[in-house]
Amino acid sequence: MRKTSDILWQDAQHQVLFEILDLISDPEADERVIEHLRDYTENHFSLEERYMRELCYPGLDAHLSAHNRFREEIEEILAGGQCDAQFRIIIGTFLTEWLTRHVFGIDKELESFLLKANVR
Ligand SMILES: [Fe+2]
Ligand SMILES: [Fe+2]
Repeated sequence: MRKTSDILWQDAQHQVLFEILDLISDPEADERVIEHLRDYTENHFSLEERYMRELCYPGLDAHLSAHNRFREEIEEILAGGQCDAQFRIIIGTFLTEWLTRHVFGIDKELESFLLKANVR
């Protein structure tokens, strides 16, 4: 049963993010999966940022700089051009740790705020 604290869209998108992350270490994968992750996170981050701006979320600046750090990291990875299987495992681990910390940390704070604002 779904917890009442869940914000449906945010939760569903986080689930997809972790599904894409799982694909990164797949031996059949190539750099397109990292591009896919970049595009998906961009949409997701933009939506969170839109809500934060519209609702004057007090933690906007800190949250925005966390998103921007991730954007920079993933662009650097893609610009590096190296994407053999071993590299992807390292990158996959790094990105998974980063997103896990983000989703269960700063995003949870946002979730509580959105819940109070009654945004689902
Ligand atoms: Fe998020
Ligand atoms: Fe976020």
